[in-house]
Amino acid sequence: MKPTNVSTSESRPCTIMFVCLGNICRSPAAQGVMESLVKERSLGHKLKVDSAGTASYHIGRLPDARMLDASAKRGYKLTSFAKAVRKVDVVDRRLVLAMDRENFKEIAKIAGGETGNVRMLSDYLDATWPRDVPDPYYGGEACFEYVLDMLEAACPKILTECLQSTV
Ligand code: 4NP
Repeated sequence: MKPTNVSTSESRPCTIMFVCLGNICRSPAAQGVMESLVKERSLGHKLKVDSAGTASYHIGRLPDARMLDASAKRGYKLTSFAKAVRKVDVVDRRLVLAMDRENFKEIAKIAGGETGNVRMLSDYLDATWPRDVPDPYYGGEACFEYVLDMLEAACPKILTECLQSTV
């Protein structure tokens, strides 16, 4: 008999959540960069992306206007509304990507230590890049540009790994 309701890693899309502090600068931009790659390569059925913050003070907001502008200049449209990361999100996603070490620690706390699928975004970059994606919130335009440079360097590698993974 043909099995029904069987979900395999081949049929299930790879799910990725990017996580920063406020979910209005770095992680929405990461989501936008990744969504753009996914769209460009017609991979929407294979990969689902979202983002969240470890803090709750911007919940419901659009990304910061400075990140919206910097992203738009590179052709990325950011459409997310800020939300706070929950344990269920971490358990559910194939891959959770922390923007910095503080975010990583917070995610681990929220997830009750279940961090098997949690990585640093910089794990996908070589050592010429810093370990943390710097928080641009109190910085100038160059900080937002630098964040986008880091995201554009890491996202293609994350995409490749996600498509290959059978977790
Ligand atoms: P994000 O940046 O974590 O990249 O979204 C920040 C946004 C807001 C604040 C800090 C960082 N804040 O302190 O309100």
